[in-house]
Amino acid sequence: MYPIFLSPGDQIDQTFLFIIGVSLVILLGLVLFTLFCLYKYHHSRNSQAEYIQGNLILEITWTVIPVLLVIPMFYFGWSGFKASRTVPKDAFPVTAIAKQWAWRFEYPNGKVYNELWVPQGKPIKVSIVSEDVLHSFYVPAFRIKRDAVPGMENFTWFRQDKIGTYTLYCAEYCGLQHSEMITQIAVLSPGEFENWYSKADTSLSIPERGLKALRMQGCLSCHSLDGTQLSAPTFKGLFGKETIVIKDGMEITVHEDITHLKSSILDPQMDIVKGFPPIMPTPKGLSNDDLDAMIEFIKTLR
Ligand code: CUA
Repeated sequence: MYPIFLSPGDQIDQTFLFIIGVSLVILLGLVLFTLFCLYKYHHSRNSQAEYIQGNLILEITWTVIPVLLVIPMFYFGWSGFKASRTVPKDAFPVTAIAKQWAWRFEYPNGKVYNELWVPQGKPIKVSIVSEDVLHSFYVPAFRIKRDAVPGMENFTWFRQDKIGTYTLYCAEYCGLQHSEMITQIAVLSPGEFENWYSKADTSLSIPERGLKALRMQGCLSCHSLDGTQLSAPTFKGLFGKETIVIKDGMEITVHEDITHLKSSILDPQMDIVKGFPPIMPTPKGLSNDDLDAMIEFIKTLR
C-alpha cells in the first residue's frame, strides 16, 4: 500500500510517471528493433521471403510481458483512485456549490466566499453540489476533477503543503458563460487562514455586501461592472436608465428604478432587454437584505 502521507495528487503523478516510463522503454525498444530489422532483412541481404508458421516461445513472451506490465499499472491506478476516495478523518469540510456561472464555497461556520481559501498542510474535504446543470470541479495543479451533478452530492479531497494560489476551473460545458467559471484556491498559512476564517462578514458596507452577493450569485459572468458588453447588459450606468425590453413579444421602454431592478432580478424572464438572450437563471437563496444591497451597489456605478 502507499504510505498515507502521500496526497492523491502525488499518487496520480507516480502512476502517470510509471505508465509514461514503461511506454518510453517500449517505444525505444520498438524503434531499435525496427532499425535492426531494416538493416538485417534489407532486400540486398535477403531477397527470398521465408514462410514461418507459429512460434510458441514468441507468443508466450508477448503475452506474459504485457500482463506483467499491466498488473502494476492497474495496481497503482487502483490504489491511487482508492486514496482519492478515502478522505482522512480530520479533514476540514467545505461545500463547493456550482451554478451558472460561478463557484461559491460554504464553510462550517457559515462563511460564504467566491474563492476557496484553505489552510496549508491540512486535508480539505470538498463536498460538490450543483444548483442547476452539470458542472465539474477541476483543479489541474491538484490533479482533481469531479463532476457537480444536480440532485447529488459528490466529493473530493486534497491537501496542499505549498502556500500559493491555484486555478479552479469548471470542466463541464455548462452553457454560454462556461469559460467564466474560473476562480482560485488560495492556500494560506494556518495563522493567516484562521485570521480570515474567524473574521465575520459584518464589517462590509452595504454596497460591498451587494458586490459580494452579485459575485456569489454568478451575476458578474454576464453583467460587467465597467461597461464592457458581455452576454447581458452592463451594470455600469444601469441605475436610472431607460431600457428597451421585450415583454410578451412587445417592445416597451422601462425605467430602471429600484422596483424594476428588483423584480428583474427575482423574475429574470419577465422583461428581456432588447438584443440579449433570455438566459438569466432565477437566483436561489437570495435574501432580501442581499437584494437591497445589490441595488445599492449598482447605484454606485453611475
Ligand atoms: Cu460550469 Cu462549465
